Amino acid sequence: MTKFDVKHTDTLLTTTRAVRKRLDLSRLVEEQQIEKCLEISQQAPTGSNRQGWQWVVVTDKGKRRIIANYYRQGASNYLEDGKNSARDKGDDQNFKVFESAQYLADNMEDVPLLVIPCIDTSHMSLNAPARKWLSLGGSIFPAIWSFQLALRARGLGSCITTLHLAYEREISKIIGIPETFAQVALLPVAYTKGTDFKPAKRPPVSEIIHWNSWE
Ligand SMILES: Cc1cc2nc3c(=O)[nH]c(=O)nc-3n(C[C@H](O)[C@H](O)[C@H](O)COP(=O)(O)O)c2cc1C
Repeated sequence: MTKFDVKHTDTLLTTTRAVRKRLDLSRLVEEQQIEKCLEISQQAPTGSNRQGWQWVVVTDKGKRRIIANYYRQGASNYLEDGKNSARDKGDDQNFKVFESAQYLADNMEDVPLLVIPCIDTSHMSLNAPARKWLSLGGSIFPAIWSFQLALRARGLGSCITTLHLAYEREISKIIGIPETFAQVALLPVAYTKGTDFKPAKRPPVSEIIHWNSWE
């Protein structure tokens, strides 16, 4: 049986953060690194074992610029309102998140790689019940997270973003994504400046666990 180094495994799982300001925009990312991380992510679980995903990796500068412009359009009011609201509430942690999200939006085209995970929706009807849409999303986010963990293990970082989805159609046209595939996220990927990330502040498990009954 494989024996895992639990300490290292737990560190990987608890320190894989949304990286924005510490993405190294000046360092190239080798294609083989991305291919390996995607290969690893393919082991993730999916509903009906369907693996109905495709991954678009955008390195072309012109395309990155266009995607970044759409991202900023999708982000503008949301990030400004979020920052102001966090400031008014004295919520330092979320103020920092919105500030860093603004930095990413401002610099998106300079991130060396933009990875867009897409999922096949051809078997879905538009009026499918919510549980089916939830399962569809649940059939790609485990792979996205595996991809991010594999990146982190190699000194690379990323951040799940979705603000570009307001312009999903426009972006799909530019990069030729078929209408039967939905974009799920946009992952800016780069080497990180330093590799010492820390666990985030989260509520204690006692506040979220329910043994046998919700009460
Ligand atoms: C479904 C989803 C959508 C997200 N969308 C964005 C986004 O559009 N832009 C962004 O900067 N961060 C986005 N994030 C990252 C979150 O802001 C981040 O995960 C959260 O602040 C917690 O930070 P941590 O991952 O470092 O713990 C998204 C995360 C998830 C899971």
